[in-house]
Amino acid sequence: MDTFAFIIHPIDPKRDVSRKFPLLGRILNERQIDFFSTFFPPVYISEIEGITSQATDKEIKGWFIACPYTPRRMMELPERTVYRKIIQTGKLAEKLGANILGLGAFTSVIGDAGITIAKGLDVPVTTGDSYTVAVAVDAIREAANVMDIPLQTATAAVVGATGAIGRVCAEMLADDVERLYLIGRRQDALEELRDRLQVHARAELVVSTTMDVLSEAQLILTVTSAIHDVIRPEHLQPGSVVCDVARPRDVSAMVAAARDDILVIDGGMVDVPGPVDFHFNFGFPAGKAYACMAETIALALEGRFEDYTLGKHLTRQRVEEIDGMAKRHGFRLSGFRSFEREVTQEQIDTVRRNANHSRRARVAQM
Ligand SMILES: NC(=O)c1ccc[n+]([C@@H]2O[C@H](COP(=O)([O-])OP(=O)(O)OC[C@H]3O[C@@H](n4cnc5c(N)ncnc54)[C@H](OP(=O)(O)O)[C@@H]3O)[C@@H](O)[C@H]2O)c1
Repeated sequence: MDTFAFIIHPIDPKRDVSRKFPLLGRILNERQIDFFSTFFPPVYISEIEGITSQATDKEIKGWFIACPYTPRRMMELPERTVYRKIIQTGKLAEKLGANILGLGAFTSVIGDAGITIAKGLDVPVTTGDSYTVAVAVDAIREAANVMDIPLQTATAAVVGATGAIGRVCAEMLADDVERLYLIGRRQDALEELRDRLQVHARAELVVSTTMDVLSEAQLILTVTSAIHDVIRPEHLQPGSVVCDVARPRDVSAMVAAARDDILVIDGGMVDVPGPVDFHFNFGFPAGKAYACMAETIALALEGRFEDYTLGKHLTRQRVEEIDGMAKRHGFRLSGFRSFEREVTQEQIDTVRRNANHSRRARVAQM
């Protein structure tokens, strides 16, 4: 049977450590978990079974393995030390007999996005970023549809537009909308991106290094590697949609609490084909996975045991190829979720109603 392995790591330290080690999660605080994670070895998490292709009926099996570092630790430690620990975790995948290895969350963000890690391993490696792009762009298009925001005349924004995932998301959305803000921290990198994309883009492209321009956007796709939230309630206009692909999240939990006139959706969740059992709770309902996991799984179903998405320069061609492959095997964009809860049609209707109230109240104040 063909196999895969996927590396996860604690993102919300207390919550995630509790999922595997309830006692440690209870007695250690966040700082202690951060500190001890430096010395902890890679951890075997679970076996994954039941994944079956809708196209070929092929069944595969996989494993979750964990690199103990938190995002903060990965940012603080020297790159070499982080690579070493991720490669050590990858060796565990090799011992288990995995045919391909996926890099979850920050293990794919660090340094050169998988290139050095792949060099240190015999098993082929993918970051999962190509399918993450496909699913994020699909989700924002679908959310625009349910919120009655016509794409062709919409103003959109990509936050983290100079990043590996953000750059291709921007390239794709630039074909859809009328105006697109490219938001990041480095003006020169943003201008370079704008100049490259503007040649073929349908949208007018505008660069910004501040979040203030978000108040002009109806559709926002956010995918930074910030370890704290970067989007707060005061940045957003009533009736807008924010698709948050980043882990840790970019959108402050305050948005959910303070703004009932905005639709925030978690980016990157898909339905997995077959009666899958992950034998581990990573925070999703049964049968659903992150898009980056799904890329690894789709490659295993396809028998494409090669380094697939590596490095910071993704291509639209790869995004479209893996999207087609995943669709064929039966992966589907899942229903919307917001801060780990399902979004119902009733909630969408309420957001639309509240957005109309907020807009009227704003006009009345002018
Ligand atoms: N949901 C999923 O399935 C999934 C899959 C893969 C990855 N991810 C997540 O996606 C995110 C991005 O990954 P990536 O590989 O694209 O990362 P990346 O290549 O490092 O790009 C990160 C981008 O974020 C920007 N950024 C970083 N800190 C910021 C801050 N404080 N304020 C504003 N912008 C900031 C960077 O700007 P500069 O150019 O100025 O550095 C860059 O544009 C990560 O959170 C990762 O965990 C999610």
